[in-house]
Amino acid sequence: MKKQKTDHENYVSALGYHWLTPFYDSFMRFAGRGNLLMQALVAQARFEKGQQVLDLGCGTGALAIMIKHDFPSVDIVALDCDRKMLSIAEHKANQIGADIQFDLAFAEKLPYPDDSFNRVVSSLLFHHLSWEHKKQVANEIFRVLKPGGELHVMDWGRASNRLMRCLFFAVQLIDGFSNTRDNVSGRLIEVFNEAEFSQVNQQQSLNTVFGTLALYAAVKAADAG
Ligand SMILES: C[S@@+](CC[C@H](N)C(=O)[O-])C[C@H]1O[C@@H](n2cnc3c(N)ncnc32)[C@H](O)[C@@H]1O
Repeated sequence: MKKQKTDHENYVSALGYHWLTPFYDSFMRFAGRGNLLMQALVAQARFEKGQQVLDLGCGTGALAIMIKHDFPSVDIVALDCDRKMLSIAEHKANQIGADIQFDLAFAEKLPYPDDSFNRVVSSLLFHHLSWEHKKQVANEIFRVLKPGGELHVMDWGRASNRLMRCLFFAVQLIDGFSNTRDNVSGRLIEVFNEAEFSQVNQQQSLNTVFGTLALYAAVKAADAG
């Protein structure tokens, strides 16, 4: 696991409290209907042979492992700022012999050169970030994507009905109201547009027991400087 020194130690851990980390995978099996929701994100990203892929806020590695399993020829790097989550991810990947590079770093300051990746994917990271940090992370993703590269994000979005909005209060109680408000207002689109992505759009919305998940896509234009 590569390490990076950071000056930003305040982050919202996976389930809001570090003591809940060991229960994350069981929780996600229930909330994420097995792997069904992540499969929707993988299908949307349309990975191709030999691509360089970054999974941002990888948590316990479920998405990175799924991508490597389905597309063995992609090179995948998975990044998270929580050492405990990453060590669970690394252990799971080692157990099945999945060749994934795990990096400990903050998404606001990515330890990669410009134009490094064909795809950046991210599941359930953005609702952990303040408005300013959402914008910083979007800018960093834009920087590390190759021209023509694509961003695919799954995160909490505008609730599709009143029931979904009520259910989402549970997430807000755990992860905090200030960071999650922008998500449920549908403002992630704005964040990606401000970072100069093209073709920013919401491709799908999926109702879950904790509210509505939105799947976004955005492109770094092939002629981006
Ligand atoms: C809800 S979990 C999602 C994990 C995984 N992507 C998934 O869908 O199961 C959010 C993850 O984002 C990580 N995270 C939060 N803030 C971060 C930041 N600023 N930089 C990198 N990772 C961050 C947390 O440590 C946590 O593992």
